Amino acid sequence: MSFPIHRPRRLRTTPAMRRLTAEHRLSAAELILPAFIREGLSEPNPISSMPGVLQHTTDSLKRAAAEAVELGVGGIMLFGVPAVRDARGTASLDPDGVLNKAIRDVRAEVGDELVVMSDVCLDEFTDHGHCGVLDANGYVDNDATLEIYAQMAVAQAEAGAHVLGPSGMMDGQVAVIRQALEDAGHANTAVVAYAAKYASAFYGPFREAVDSQLTGDRRTYQMDAANRREALLEVELDLADGADMVMVKPAMSYLDILADVAAMSPVPVAAYQISGEYSMIEAAAANGWIDRRAAVTESVLGIKRAGANMVLTYWASEVAGWLKESK
Ligand code: PBG
Repeated sequence: MSFPIHRPRRLRTTPAMRRLTAEHRLSAAELILPAFIREGLSEPNPISSMPGVLQHTTDSLKRAAAEAVELGVGGIMLFGVPAVRDARGTASLDPDGVLNKAIRDVRAEVGDELVVMSDVCLDEFTDHGHCGVLDANGYVDNDATLEIYAQMAVAQAEAGAHVLGPSGMMDGQVAVIRQALEDAGHANTAVVAYAAKYASAFYGPFREAVDSQLTGDRRTYQMDAANRREALLEVELDLADGADMVMVKPAMSYLDILADVAAMSPVPVAAYQISGEYSMIEAAAANGWIDRRAAVTESVLGIKRAGANMVLTYWASEVAGWLKESK
């Protein structure tokens, strides 16, 4: 026999053939746009380490949400940047605080056309920048933090969030939030558990995005990059506590974790392509080192292929626009 029997290249011969035989494809409905709103801004404020991403005003946030609806994006994840911070993150509980108000404003703009999600975490609200309150030794106090998360969750549900995203990696956070929601009559408010969230150097630009006050790191509560098996424990605990969806974060350096979780999870799996992953690609593209659109598309598709049902990405609306134009 002088020819190869198997010629996988046959299925690569034309764009139409490649499109027909693609195992995975992106759709706008599975993309979630993370968005920042900062209290007291009169104009949207560019985030220098995340070119193209803004700290929003109420108006620009509403416009971004309306645009996301227009483009068919699946959801929006809101983060608030308050004007005043304290040791216990008190502003997070104010029904008129920056994040709770943003949830209400975005819901008023989009209704049920976009799944409105919000961050349940104290790091944006504390003056020390940690995701919880500190004990006398400066250690993040798990159970004291849970009490505040429960109240934050109810406030956000009351403001109209469809889905709450507890991102602080406190043990037991999903159970406490679920219980608080049920007790307050919010049985239909869902929880996406940041189940496997790693202490990552790639969060750097996000810290600028939320004007983080953190010195040091989050290694006593976020997972260690060395651990794979432990991610399954985190997911199992959150499922037992009532998580409606689970998340792996970051995405690109953790695709093995994502594949593991996708293989075992009976609920939808989200992956968060975080700030540093965004900024790296933007920086390389700005230098002319990579083709921006191709690299962005490949990165999000890779996350999907690894097993994500939903991808949080700062490019959500832009990618949705590309998908629309290529139809
Ligand atoms: C914590 C939180 C962080 C991110 C989302 N939620 C920061 C952190 O854990 O330090 C990072 C998201 C990103 O980097 O894009 N509330």
